[in-house]
Amino acid sequence: MDLKEAQEKLKKYGQEHLLRYYDELSDEDRQQLLAQIGKTDMSMTHFVKDRDQLPGRGVISPLGAMELPEIEEKKELFRKTGLAAVRAGKVGAVLLAGGMGTRLGSDNPKCMYDIGITKHVYIMQRLIENLMDVVNEAGTFVPLFIMTSEKNHDTTVRFMEEMNFFGYDRKKVWFFEQDMAPATDYDGKIFLEEKGRIATSPNGNGGWFTSMGKAGLIDVLHEEGIEWLNVFAVDNVLQRIADPVFVGATIESGCASGAKVVRKAEENEKVGAMCLEDGRPSIVEYYEMTPELLAARTSAGEPAYNFGVILNYLFREPDLEKIMNEDFPLHIVEKKIPHLDETGVKISPDKPNGYKFEQLVLDMVHQMDSCLPFEVLREREFAPIKNATGVDSVESARELCKKNGIEL
Ligand code: UTP
Repeated sequence: MDLKEAQEKLKKYGQEHLLRYYDELSDEDRQQLLAQIGKTDMSMTHFVKDRDQLPGRGVISPLGAMELPEIEEKKELFRKTGLAAVRAGKVGAVLLAGGMGTRLGSDNPKCMYDIGITKHVYIMQRLIENLMDVVNEAGTFVPLFIMTSEKNHDTTVRFMEEMNFFGYDRKKVWFFEQDMAPATDYDGKIFLEEKGRIATSPNGNGGWFTSMGKAGLIDVLHEEGIEWLNVFAVDNVLQRIADPVFVGATIESGCASGAKVVRKAEENEKVGAMCLEDGRPSIVEYYEMTPELLAARTSAGEPAYNFGVILNYLFREPDLEKIMNEDFPLHIVEKKIPHLDETGVKISPDKPNGYKFEQLVLDMVHQMDSCLPFEVLREREFAPIKNATGVDSVESARELCKKNGIEL
């Protein structure tokens, strides 16, 4: 993009201030800034002022899960169906590893975090080891797609190479970068991070399929004959990936998608719960739970919104292509955003000072015609690492790993 084009784009979105220091920059920095302006989607910044234009929530009603006793009863059928799909190469895995991991507070990408005590046990290693269980059972490698962001891509790829992909077949691993979104002040004006760089951050975990498309990976999905994609988070070190029983249950159910869920530990647990929204599958966030929703009971007297999602979803590939260009909910999140102030001095705020824009993978569930909530035991499959200590932390994940016989 040249200067004139950049000026026009910025004018369109009311962001002309981003060229404030352009005259002071070196040629190289000028080119980088223009390129960044060219590739950054600024179309969402007006929603800071026009929030009422963002779609609201529909009518929430309960959606029952397939619970453990039923899964146990039909396990062999599900396993057979799922394994056949994995063996036929129809199941791919997508690791969402583009997040910033700010709560954990490590400078390196989260996948490089070492949870070992007597030896190295990196988060990525745990995930690959879990995937290898299925690879060994099926006798074939599961295609693995790893989403990174501009902020952690090179480090993540280098780490995997140094670690020799933890024994995984590197020909079955593809990396792709997610898009970045601008960060703004409370008036929707995009911050400058440096004189020649606008403040951006990864655009949430919901844009993964669009980013796969931009990276040319939909062709790979077709070439590989992949029909289902199992999307999962980087931080759950007990995660079962491409789990044949889950895959088989979703296929046998005839649903367009599946979501692994755990029974809520307590009513107010901070997890999103599976539900129907205007008759379609959806997820109601813990902070959206009204007293009525909390009080609702099933015919068996159980809480009606009792199954929390753990960011492990199965989507039918052709359905993802279908929804790719549909409007997708936008989340405007208040954050601390380092930036240059009006005098060009760098500020690292200690409290929120503006907004980031994110799309979330959980919103994709609502775009599917149907979804199978599939119950798993949290002690076996849910050990998220969000924080260094306390709830959902390195400490709690280590305890759960030990209980599952994993040496650390
Ligand atoms: P989180 O919501 O825990 O966010 O991500 P985070 O960025 O990793 O951590 P904090 O909030 O800064 O502490 C859940 C999953 O979604 C991925 C993360 O890597 C993790 O696997 N994610 C999140 C992305 O891939 N991209 C994003 O933009 C955000």
